[in-house]
Amino acid sequence: MSPLEAPSLPTVLYLVAALLFIGSLGGLSKQETARQGNLAGILGMGLAVAATLLVGRAHAWSPTTMGLVYGGMGVGLAIGAALAARVAMTAMPQLVAILHSFVGLAAVLVGISSYLHPHAPLQGAALHVHLIEIWVGVGVGAITFTGSVVAWAKLKGSLSGAPMLLKGRHAMNAGALLVSLLLLWPFLDTTAAEGGQPTWLGTLVLLQMTGITSALGIHLVMAIGGADMPVVVSLLNSYSGWAAAAAGFMLGNDLLIVTGALVGSSGAILSHIMCAAMNRSIWSVVFGGFGTDGGAGGRVVEGEVTPTSADELARLAADARSVVIVPGYGMAVSRAQHLVHEFSTLLRKKGVQVRYAIHPVAGRLPGHMNVLLAEAGVPYDIVLEMEEIDHDLADTDLVLVIGANDIVNPGAQDDPGSPIYGMPVLQVWHARDVIVFKRSMGAGYAGVDNPLFVKDNTKMLFGDAKDSMAAVMAALRGRAAA
Ligand code: TAP
Repeated sequence: MSPLEAPSLPTVLYLVAALLFIGSLGGLSKQETARQGNLAGILGMGLAVAATLLVGRAHAWSPTTMGLVYGGMGVGLAIGAALAARVAMTAMPQLVAILHSFVGLAAVLVGISSYLHPHAPLQGAALHVHLIEIWVGVGVGAITFTGSVVAWAKLKGSLSGAPMLLKGRHAMNAGALLVSLLLLWPFLDTTAAEGGQPTWLGTLVLLQMTGITSALGIHLVMAIGGADMPVVVSLLNSYSGWAAAAAGFMLGNDLLIVTGALVGSSGAILSHIMCAAMNRSIWSVVFGGFGTDGGAGGRVVEGEVTPTSADELARLAADARSVVIVPGYGMAVSRAQHLVHEFSTLLRKKGVQVRYAIHPVAGRLPGHMNVLLAEAGVPYDIVLEMEEIDHDLADTDLVLVIGANDIVNPGAQDDPGSPIYGMPVLQVWHARDVIVFKRSMGAGYAGVDNPLFVKDNTKMLFGDAKDSMAAVMAALRGRAAA
């Protein structure tokens, strides 16, 4: 019996799980409802697993199969729980990337196993469609698997973040796709001639295509530079969804098809939004390294840097009417969000208008800053997206840039040689005073110098962001007590 003819309880559970997944995506799209969204996702996944086990019982799985299923779930649960409990917020993108690789690998294994052990006898068009599903699932899965492993290694720092731009790489990518497509013909012919049973030639070409698409996944992601990495992770998320949907077709599992399509399309939409935020074309990311030829390192910044002190910042803050805080990756590294929240609460009690400005790619993963600020208890209504606050910056007395760099780099607007040229940035330099919290003159993720640091109205508060903020709080309290 195919899972499509499964008893009604699992089918109903699958349907409820699919609805919960849709509700989960809806909830996750807003900060206020993110927790409920997460809960709906957990509940949906719990129901999906329970329904699958019920299907297994109805199919009278052998004790070996049951042992493998429960054993696999136990090992997966233990590894997943240990990783999730230990992972630092700053290492989340790597974790997400490696999790995508598992989905890709699963699609490859499901595809090869579906070919070697056909479930139901199929003929004619139905057989061809099934074989194409296997081909697409294995190909997309292999690209997702190896691409995600490379993304994980790049984000972790085990591989250089610099793009590997081989000569003729676009022709190589196109050639790999073409050969993968051409190999489909012998695969279909030989398998159809044997009535859907696996043949040695079919197995050979399937494995050849797996090898070619695996190499393609490596090559595509190797060609992508640091600044585009967030989009790559989101794109791989989308690929992992399509790979899961293809596995759903192979197994005849409706829930896997729906879930895969949800992940695939939401990942594609997120990639599009991020590309728009970074002024990158989605195709330049999909095909890896388009438009990065000869990318210069940007203008060398010349000028004097003006250091400042916690006392001076406390004075500026006490005199300000409006303050905007721009958090970045450095705030996550130093875990300064709680002190930043205390600081903004103190100023708001004194009647200062304080708002947070969030760049769409601040930090290292989508929504990174929102999560940290929510964790610290910052009210949602003072946390504004870039487009909501950018036009107010010129009327702002004081901007505090806490561990951010690329997202406030004016070179993105006026230096065509900069690798981040064209990326929309928060124009903090229009404010009356700007104070930047960072430890050194070191570059940010994209590795480019930042002319903001030498502007007349910018001062640098050097040191770990959390230590600096603690000193500022002490100075503010000292002023209040005096
Ligand atoms: P970055 O440009 O990476 O700058 C972070 C700055 O924080 C660094 O210049 C660093 O300077 C400072 N810093 C590090 N540790 C610190 C500490 N303990 N205390 C104080 N400062 C510290 O960050 P950003 O402005 O948030 O921009 C994000 C970048 O990451 C973009 O290029 C984006 O494309 C990329 N990216 C984003 C994502 C997503 S989805 N958000 C994912 C991957 C990559 P010092 O070393 O001098 O302290």
